Amino acid sequence: MLNFAELNDLNTYMHRCLQLAQKGLGKVSPNPMVGAVLVYEGKVIGEGFHEFHGGPHAEVNCIENVSAEQKINIPQSTLFVSLEPCNHHGKTPPCTDLIIKNGIQKVVVACKDPFEKVNGTGIEKLKATGIEVIVGVLEKEAIELNKRFFTYRQQKRPYIILKWAQSKDRFIALDNSSNFKISNAYSNQLVHQWRSEEAAILVGTHTAIKDNPQLTTRLVKGKNPLRICIDKNLQLPQNSNLLDQSAPTIIFNFLEEKTEGINEYIKLDSSLDFISQLLEKLYKKGVSSLIVEGGAKLLNTFIQTNTWDEARIITNTNLELSNGIQAPSIVNAEIKERFQLVGDEVFFMINKQRD
Ligand SMILES: NC(=O)c1ccc[n+]([C@@H]2O[C@H](COP(=O)([O-])OP(=O)(O)OC[C@H]3O[C@@H](n4cnc5c(N)ncnc54)[C@H](OP(=O)(O)O)[C@@H]3O)[C@@H](O)[C@H]2O)c1
Repeated sequence: MLNFAELNDLNTYMHRCLQLAQKGLGKVSPNPMVGAVLVYEGKVIGEGFHEFHGGPHAEVNCIENVSAEQKINIPQSTLFVSLEPCNHHGKTPPCTDLIIKNGIQKVVVACKDPFEKVNGTGIEKLKATGIEVIVGVLEKEAIELNKRFFTYRQQKRPYIILKWAQSKDRFIALDNSSNFKISNAYSNQLVHQWRSEEAAILVGTHTAIKDNPQLTTRLVKGKNPLRICIDKNLQLPQNSNLLDQSAPTIIFNFLEEKTEGINEYIKLDSSLDFISQLLEKLYKKGVSSLIVEGGAKLLNTFIQTNTWDEARIITNTNLELSNGIQAPSIVNAEIKERFQLVGDEVFFMINKQRD
């Protein structure tokens, strides 16, 4: 049993691992974000995180970052890592081998890796070689940090974020006006930041045609997500922004399967559920998160089928429309965050209640 001071230390170092891991947001998907620190006699002698997809794992970077004079202390150090070390040959060799090779005697892990090829075997292997392994330090926080990865691995679909902007009286658009702006320049920039953190972005047919959105991250520094549009009967005009080849785009439809430059047309079976097929295709393509940016019909489908994880709603408290397209509504959900944005806008984040 650990005493309070020991537990406090474990939490402190693991907290640092989570901070480091977070730096990989939007860069490592569909891999998890992972951070690691190496501690010798109460001092951090190495730190590292998984920086980009296919790149070295956190443990590798952490051990490599130890200075030449501290290298001798590696075997007497404790390695903290926010996810179970891998135990298989993927794009990089197993981290368990690296830990064993370096003679590290104690490893503290936040949570088990749900990936079938790891799933506890990394921890077992370390224990089998006599290494002391502590599992479960800041486990809840570590799982929350990697909510995209856990959902992708366990539910075999992307983590789904529903996003919309609404007026004070809960309309998302006027009936006949195209591209009517509800949110201001500041929240638009925030939305572009959110886009850069996700693997893909989805819109419905009417939104794509009426608003002609670009769905890029041009207002911030960050990568464009994969753009996805539902267009069953290929009604989207050829000069639409979504087809401009400025970012890879998938058009899910009922008519044809083809590739045009970086755009892909994927034909779905009209006798089966559209969204289930779409999510399965995205899962197989390694898309671990999806931000759904409307319109109302599309958002309501995800809500009605209970296929979502988080909703981000921006309300312009100074705008009343009186009529138009009703905002989706979510009941039985927990409000996780609420804060005032610049101007008259309020942001809510709603988490689906876990089953
Ligand atoms: N304020 C905001 O945050 C925001 C964001 C986005 C859009 N908007 C506004 O919303 C309006 C459009 O909303 P909307 O509800 O009319 O249209 P929408 O959701 O953009 O598109 C609806 C169409 O997309 C297809 N679709 C949607 N869900 C589907 C599903 N589950 N399975 C198969 N197909 C599906 C259907 O196409 P078919 O008709 O071919 O069956 C459906 O008619 C626009 O005025 C836009 O400006 C507002």
